[in-house]
Amino acid sequence: MRIDVVSLFPEFVAQMAGHGVVGRAQERGLLALHGWNPRDHAEGNYRRVDDRPFGGGPGMVMLLDPLLACLEAVRAADPAPAHVIHFSPQGRPLDQAKVRELAGRDRLVLLCSRYEGVDERLLAAAVDEEVSIGDYVLSGGELPAAVLVDAVARLQPGALNDAESAAQDSFGEDPSGLRLLDCPHYTRPVEHALGSVPEVLLSGNHAAIARWRRKQALGRTWTRRPELLDRDALSAGDRALLDEFLAENPL
Ligand code: ADE
Repeated sequence: MRIDVVSLFPEFVAQMAGHGVVGRAQERGLLALHGWNPRDHAEGNYRRVDDRPFGGGPGMVMLLDPLLACLEAVRAADPAPAHVIHFSPQGRPLDQAKVRELAGRDRLVLLCSRYEGVDERLLAAAVDEEVSIGDYVLSGGELPAAVLVDAVARLQPGALNDAESAAQDSFGEDPSGLRLLDCPHYTRPVEHALGSVPEVLLSGNHAAIARWRRKQALGRTWTRRPELLDRDALSAGDRALLDEFLAENPL
């Protein structure tokens, strides 16, 4: 998969994507990341990339022409058609289903704006969709771009080692179609001043362990993110597990 990042600070995103799973995905040739700076496509001595908004008000708006020229250079660099995303709090909220959809594409262009955003005409002409990473305001699209690069990189086949399986993560694709939070995890030592590891995890009984994990995942989702679970739509087995969790963990 190829990802082109258009940003006034392209090295910022490259830096963050250079480590861990994303860095390894690049080393393994599963992900090619390219940075582009619209300032390189701006005219004049000052290479201006922004201007004051018509109608007044605070902040600056990114100019059309440097971005259009930059996007044209990005397209010309590779014949593969690209899906262009602009990051904005006005965008569609990013979730794991969206990440899965984007991870399946051959090529993404991530447009990161600064200041108050970009000229609206650019969005209509050159952007396929706007994405938000949450209901809070950041000062630019670089962090959202790094978030998206990380989330799609780890879904590239071969990016994760066996021990890091993506299917078991929170929001992993569940055969029942549920979006569940992850269960708790423990490692050595078994006994510690902070408590002991749940016995079932030491039992070697794989069916019992799977049942316990499912119960914890259902219970955590129910207590922490109730909007993700419709109790009435649960299978009889899941409903029984959830009731068991609630009996064992009174609120
Ligand atoms: N740009 C500024 N804030 C943002 C957010 N929450 N999500 C995506 N892009 C942004």
